[in-house]
Amino acid sequence: MSSDVLKDSAEAASAQLGGKRVALGVSGGIAAYKAAEVLRGLQRAGCTVRVGMTKRACEFVTPLTFRALSGAHVVVDDYAPDNPDPIAHITFSQTVDLFLVVPATANIIAKFANGIGDDFLTSTYLASNAPVLVAPAMNTTMWNHPATRRNLERLRADGVRVVEPDAGEMACGTFGPGRLSEPERIVAAALEILSGGAHTRDLSGERVLITAGATREEIDPVRFISNRSSGRMGFALAEAARLRGAEVTVVAGVTSAAVPSNVRVVRALSAEEMRGAVISEVEKATVFIAAAAVSDYRPATRSAGKIKKSGDALTLKLEPTPDVLAEVGRARRNGLLLVGFAAETDKVVEHAREKLVGKNLDAIVANDITRDGAGFDTVTNVITLLARDREQPQELPLMSKLDAAHRILDEVARLRKVKAKEK
Ligand code: CTP
Repeated sequence: MSSDVLKDSAEAASAQLGGKRVALGVSGGIAAYKAAEVLRGLQRAGCTVRVGMTKRACEFVTPLTFRALSGAHVVVDDYAPDNPDPIAHITFSQTVDLFLVVPATANIIAKFANGIGDDFLTSTYLASNAPVLVAPAMNTTMWNHPATRRNLERLRADGVRVVEPDAGEMACGTFGPGRLSEPERIVAAALEILSGGAHTRDLSGERVLITAGATREEIDPVRFISNRSSGRMGFALAEAARLRGAEVTVVAGVTSAAVPSNVRVVRALSAEEMRGAVISEVEKATVFIAAAAVSDYRPATRSAGKIKKSGDALTLKLEPTPDVLAEVGRARRNGLLLVGFAAETDKVVEHAREKLVGKNLDAIVANDITRDGAGFDTVTNVITLLARDREQPQELPLMSKLDAAHRILDEVARLRKVKAKEK
């Protein structure tokens, strides 16, 4: 997301976020200094921020920095004689609207995941009844370690939200994922959570069915055809729809993005399985959004044994898969709203409109996947919205997938009103 867009969204948020309280936890990593920028960003948006640090974090940045910026005592050790509040971990955690940890080291993530409360930050986490957001930062090997993966999965299952680290050059000179996400992005994620309650519940009563991720078409027991989709856009839609009061089911293929909480997920790996799951789920749905990247072809036959190498060229015969969205479009019932996606590389609007009409949809989200920050396996998207009752396509700027999801759902809410009037 461009910093201008982030600044705009922070400014827009500040109007509604005045008075929100954030507990900012800083744990001991080289990225600790960036927590100061996050603090400033939150303050600019109208939040009051109190800071707690681990002892190790103080080796990287002094508590004085955060005291100067926050204008309040920084708690490191709640047993320390100078601590003005003897039960700081309770007051700190139970009087805030968000508990945010920047950076979250592998160690703090492990402690949170296992319920260890051996210092101020970890006991604050245990005593917190506010939403929790962590922004991990660590060396790539530590990030990829199965123990860290497992701990993060556990945290997510406990409802903790994660601002994924970026991939890039690390302080230790290696390249890979683990670098703290941009402070602006962390602030945007925090504001999103803080404004969550403020969302209009304009989709309450809707049952939204979403397909997400890539499908996997097997060639033999070890090989398959798939694509780059991470499921992020579909999951962002699920999260946004849930925030707006809808009941949400996601039929998910292969995904690497975090699964949102409070959303029912039905796994379906191949196009055929996805078709089966959608046909049975769509019965109950009032809105269907097809965000999955469904493979258009699959091997005509799946070899039962592993295909062995021979000196000759290998020809794979592919056959078309069922078009899940088109099938729902053909059999649509009154009242069911249908939204598709169109991933294109050229004549974006023209091709998207053909799909809008051809698949009998109410709206379609077109994206030009050749553009920076758009399309597969990115955290942002650049979308153009087309609706059956509107001549002009609506071109939107680069934004986070969650923001894009809200814009798509704004269109769903509008189409619902139009449909109600048509009755
Ligand atoms: N879709 C689907 N089942 C398929 C293929 C696509 O449900 N077998 C859905 C996608 O989820 C998306 C829309 O149809 O919402 C358009 O997908 P896209 O891949 O852009 O277009 P296709 O119809 O597959 O056409 P093409 O690949 O030729 O552009």
